[in-house]
Amino acid sequence: MATFFEGESHTFSEYLLVPGYSSAENIPANVSLKTPLVKFRRGEEPALSLNIPMVSAIMQSVSGVDMGVALAIEGGLAFIYGNQTPESEAAMVKAVKDHKAGFVESDSTLTPDMTMEQVMELKARTGHSTMPVTDDGSSRGKLLGIVTSRDYRPSRDDHQKKVREFMTPREKLIVGDKDITLKKANDVIWDNKLNALPVVDENDHLMGIVFRKDYDQHKSNPNELLDANKRYMVGAGINTRDYAERVPLLVEAGADVLCIDSSEGFSEWQKRTIEWVRANYGDSVKIGAGNVVDGDGFRFLADCGADFVKVGIGGGSICITRETKGIGRGQASAVIDVCRARDKYYEETGVYVPVCSDGGIVYDYHMTLALAMGADFMMLGRYFARFDESPTERVNVNGQYMKEYWGEGSARARNWQRYDQGGASKLGFVEGVDSYVPYAGSLKEGVGQTIYKIKSTMCNCGAKTIKELQEKARLTLVSSTSIVEGGAHDVVVKDSQHSVSYR
Ligand code: IMP
Repeated sequence: MATFFEGESHTFSEYLLVPGYSSAENIPANVSLKTPLVKFRRGEEPALSLNIPMVSAIMQSVSGVDMGVALAIEGGLAFIYGNQTPESEAAMVKAVKDHKAGFVESDSTLTPDMTMEQVMELKARTGHSTMPVTDDGSSRGKLLGIVTSRDYRPSRDDHQKKVREFMTPREKLIVGDKDITLKKANDVIWDNKLNALPVVDENDHLMGIVFRKDYDQHKSNPNELLDANKRYMVGAGINTRDYAERVPLLVEAGADVLCIDSSEGFSEWQKRTIEWVRANYGDSVKIGAGNVVDGDGFRFLADCGADFVKVGIGGGSICITRETKGIGRGQASAVIDVCRARDKYYEETGVYVPVCSDGGIVYDYHMTLALAMGADFMMLGRYFARFDESPTERVNVNGQYMKEYWGEGSARARNWQRYDQGGASKLGFVEGVDSYVPYAGSLKEGVGQTIYKIKSTMCNCGAKTIKELQEKARLTLVSSTSIVEGGAHDVVVKDSQHSVSYR
């Protein structure tokens, strides 16, 4: 006869934080959100930390190269999706690692034979007015010239005029060589009153462009997550089937941390995967595992040697696992339970294994709750899918801009390895949906707002660090009627955007 699980199954929305005393010191500017990413021994520093407690979901519709760069700039980390060939995943990891801060790869490159009309179309589409001209029209082609909006007059010139007739040709351009530092590039820009400096290799192939404004931005990103060689940090998803082939390529490409991407991680498949990594790389390759929803699952993965453990089954916004398979657990209860097990494990062994709360975050305050409940950081899919930097199209749906967002277990992604149970895994049913999420602009702005909200709530709780929040936070379960009381109620809200913009 089945036994009853001795634990609750609540969600984030069923909890609130009861404020504590805040002193004059408790202002957002004094709050640090630095948090461990991988396990460490008592008294030692973790080998890897995050500057903000956010990582992006291992999903096709979320984590590509642009997400990797944009999130590292803000102090978080993207996990490049594993649902692609090992070679193309490694190429994405390498692209993030090779991305030189301030050296931009052009997305508006021209060939000399293009027309002014095409230039104008491209400008309208990308919003960029500085366009390099290369022999093959690629962003790594041989540099032949540059077009800026000062080079042509749409009101007077023939729109069929060729780029070669009005571009500034290569011989008149000031360029930087491949080893130029950002600081030196900036000096050249200032000394020559330029807006942009193309950087080329020894064969005159374009390597990137340094823009005056990007240099300024670089200086104003104090949270950037960089490795020892000042490159952006990035993670990569793996599965429990082709690790022997995939992991070496990802390590070679420079991945800072790996994570087993699986819908359910309390399994021998995860043990085998971690053992393989340890046998081949010792502790030099960091690997997170999951997902689990209780203390037993946590202890199993911690004993297997996981560097962090991911929590959550069935809570994701695109997830229908609970509906199709009837497994899972309310995300808040799962996080609380697993974090208790982590603390016990730490007491017993002196090893702290960070916990990541994965899925089910809808409102910004859910993140503060997850942290207060003990999570060290959160993995977010829907949240990041809404920004410019996710790899999906922005589309106009009935007059409102949306971004596409689909689950890894949906028929669209067909990520069967994620649901591997040992056999020839071909799903007979799907566990995720294909959807739209409201477009939310740039990641920088969105994350900036969220971080400020988290810090502000931490001040209400008298906490200046995540650890302090976990010690001081007082959580209360709320009734369904008090949830209604918590929103705008008994009024007619004028701004219909309100319900979207505050999320
Ligand atoms: P979200 O932040 O609520 O959108 O949840 C994202 C998380 O949902 C991911 O990190 C995965 O753990 C999980 N997930 C991704 N795709 C699927 C799916 O198709 N079915 C179930 N869960 C999924």
